[in-house]
This record gives sequence, structure tokens and C-alpha cells, in this order.
Amino acid sequence: MSKDTLTITDNRTGRSYEIPVTHDTIQAMDLRQIKVNQDDFGLMTYDPGFTNTASTKSTITYIDGDKGILRYRGYPIEQLAEHSNFVEVAYLTLFGELPTQEQYNAWEYEIRHHTFVHENIKQLMEAFRYDAHPMSMFISTVAALSTYYPEARNIQDPKSRMKQIVRLIAKVPTISAFSYRHSRGLPYVYPNNDLGYTENFLYMLDKMGQTDYEVKSVLARALDVLFILHVDHEQNCGTATMRVIGSSHADPYASMAGAAAALFGPLHGGANEAVLRMLVEIGDVKNVPEFIKGVKNRERLLMGFGHRVYKNYDPRAKIIKRIADEVFETTGRNPMLDIALELERIALEDEFFVQRNLYPNVDFYSGIIYQAMGFPVKMFPVLFAIPRTVGWLAQWQELLGDSAQKIARPRQIYLGADTRDYLPMANR
Ligand code: CMC
Repeated sequence: MSKDTLTITDNRTGRSYEIPVTHDTIQAMDLRQIKVNQDDFGLMTYDPGFTNTASTKSTITYIDGDKGILRYRGYPIEQLAEHSNFVEVAYLTLFGELPTQEQYNAWEYEIRHHTFVHENIKQLMEAFRYDAHPMSMFISTVAALSTYYPEARNIQDPKSRMKQIVRLIAKVPTISAFSYRHSRGLPYVYPNNDLGYTENFLYMLDKMGQTDYEVKSVLARALDVLFILHVDHEQNCGTATMRVIGSSHADPYASMAGAAAALFGPLHGGANEAVLRMLVEIGDVKNVPEFIKGVKNRERLLMGFGHRVYKNYDPRAKIIKRIADEVFETTGRNPMLDIALELERIALEDEFFVQRNLYPNVDFYSGIIYQAMGFPVKMFPVLFAIPRTVGWLAQWQELLGDSAQKIARPRQIYLGADTRDYLPMANR
């Protein structure tokens, strides 16, 4: 007869233990009872990189990595990318349901009317070196926001929490645009609250002295779709960081600065930047086979390929590849695309990549579109952080509402020296 339990026999002692299985998972703490003797600490699991450890139950994002499925709150990413917009997806991700028209209008109004930042933020920006990386400025400025909103520390108050959530979602485009303008030595452009979320972001980046400046709607829609694709991706490195910091009850600005710092790494959200640098280095389609040879010889990684969870084509990469054509109709074709397509063609046929289930991920094509839209490579991680703000905050809210959560504190296996006496310098 089948039972939802796991029987473990400890061959060190010959004892057996029956452990409950729920949602195909055992509770790590159930292993602690497995001891050789009473003084024994009990059995632990060893899982560097948390490759097989669930840190939470969640109702936000579903991924089936083998089938290449991604859903927010049950809605397939393909449908959201086609029919929705970023502000609506933000509502869905945070509140769990699609908004009614009235709810949408109220939400959109809130976001639209919190876009301005304190004037001192400009001075903070001025303190950065002329060539500071925009993502470094983004991380520091998000952290600095907590000095403007000390009430944010009251994380148990749902009203205050929601206020900070709105502020963060509304202000990240402004901070991002300011960091871009600073790195270019251009004057900051204040938000234009007549414009929608993505249009306003493009406006703040691009507007100069023109009186008849208009945001190109094709580009705004393409960026909006890219934003939708980046909203959340369950317990990845940045989101896990958000939860780890949030679990100590730090305020959301401090937590999010940490999450953004994690996202900056080239193995995570910094990969889109790394992909572009790689394509520039390859330089020509004819150099692709030589480059692939280097990857197979383990001299380097094929950036934008592979994923911890997807062992199939990343569904986001498929959508991005499609919108690339629409963007290129407006901007002209990015010559990097041919190199990327050739890399993908060879990699998808090559035994090395096939055996390891290495497919293009979200970062493989996004950089090519961003570049065609005129974004400098250094802005790419920032373009990831803006929409991911929503996911971080939804996960943070969920964490705070989950009574099973405690301060994050992994265990270790200590393999260092046993106790030893301090030796005076002269005796070493
Ligand atoms: N190029 C060449 N080989 C690779 C690559 C790659 N991009 N990715 C994985 N492999 C190999 C790896 O060497 C290993 O081979 P073997 O088993 O023979 O030692 C095998 O494939 C399994 O890889 P892994 O490193 O165990 O996989 P992981 O789940 O620890 O790493 C990853 C996932 C995304 C960090 C990794 O695939 C990688 O470094 N990719 C390049 C960076 C990148 O594109 N990152 C963006 C990820 S998607 C967006 C995001 O998360 O922010």
C-alpha cells in the first residue's frame, strides 16, 4: 500500500525512521532525529547553491524547467506578454489576481504619481565618479532611499509596506534614468506623469531640448514586454537574497539593494551585458566555430546559455526573439543578431550543449534588442532590475505574511582546525 512517507534506514545504527512526504518534499528538520548517539547533533543535508532545497512555499511564479513553462499566478508568460502590460502584470504579481478596470485605474494612478525622487538624490548621483557603472549607482541609490523613508522600517504595518512598494516600483525608472544621464554627463530629466510607465522611462532617458519630443510607441511596447518577461522568476539568486535580507526584518530598501547587488553578477542579471561583450569580441559570424571550440575546451562560458532551472528553451528567450524583429523594423537590424543566431544554431546541434541541455536563456537575445534601442551595454542589468523590483517586492510581502518563515541562517559542516592554543609571534 502506498503511503506519503519516506523510510530511512541509518546503516550506522541499523535504526529506521519514517518521515512524512508533503508536496514531494521532506522537512529538513525531520532528519535531525537521525543520530548515532544522544550527543550527536543529528543528520543535516549538504546543498551548496541550494540546488535541491526549497526555502519557501510560494504562490507567485511557477516554472517547469524541463518543459520550458513559466507562469505568474497561473497565467502563462506568453499570454501576459501578448495581452497585458507591465503595470497590470505588476498588480497581478503583487495581489495574486488580475485587476478589475477600477482596481487597475487606481493602481496605475498610484504608480504614476510616485515617480519623483527627493531633490537630494540628484546630489547623491553627483557624488559618483563620471564613469560609475549605472547598476552600481542604482544599487546605492535604492539603499539610500531608506534614509528618506524611515517609517519603512515598520515592516509589520501592511499600509506602510504597500506605500514603500508603490514608491519603489514608481521610482526605479527615475533612479535608472538619472544614473544613465549621469554616466553620459547629461542633465536629469524629471518624470512626465502624463506618460505611462515605460514611455515615461524612455522619455527620461532620451529627452533633450525638443518641445515636440515623442516616445516611439513600438519601442515603448517592446520594452514593456521585456519588462513583463523579467518581473519574477521564483527563487533565483537575487530573489533569494531579497528574502534572506528581508528575513532579518530589514526595511525593503536595504533588502532590495542587496537583491539588486546579487542581480548584478555576470552569472545572473549581468549576463545580458556579458553576452553583448562576448558578441562584440567574436566580431564576425566566421569566428563563431573557433569561439565554440574554446567553450568546449572549457576556456570560457557561452554567456546567455544554460540555466539552473530550464533544461529546455527558456520561454522568455522565445518571446524576445520574436519581438526583436518588430524592434529592428524601427531601429534597423543589429548586426550582432547574425552572430547570435549562428552561435545558437551551432550550439543547439553540438553534442556538448545537447548533452548538457544548454539552451539560450532570457539574456541571450535581450541585450541585442537593448543595444538596437540605443541603450549602452552598462545599462542592461539596470533594465533587468526595474521590472524585477516587482518580483522582489511580491516575494518580500509573501515572506512577511508566512508564519513558517524564520530568519535565514544556513548550517555549515565545519572542517577546520580543532581547538589549539594561541602561539606568541616569536614561536610561530
Ligand atoms: N557555457 C558552457 N558550458 C556551460 C554553460 C555555458 N553557458 N552553462 C553550463 N555549462 C556546463 C557546465 O560547465 C557543466 O558542465 P559539466 O557538467 O561537464 O561540468 C554543465 O553545463 C552544467 O552546468 P552547471 O554550471 O552545473 O549549471 P548551474 O545550474 O550551476 O549554472 C548558470 C547555471 C546559468 C549559472 C550557467 O549555465 C552559466 O554560467 N551560464 C552562463 C551565464 C548566464 O547566461 N547566466 C544567465 C542565467 S538566466 C538569467 C538569470 O538568472 O539572471
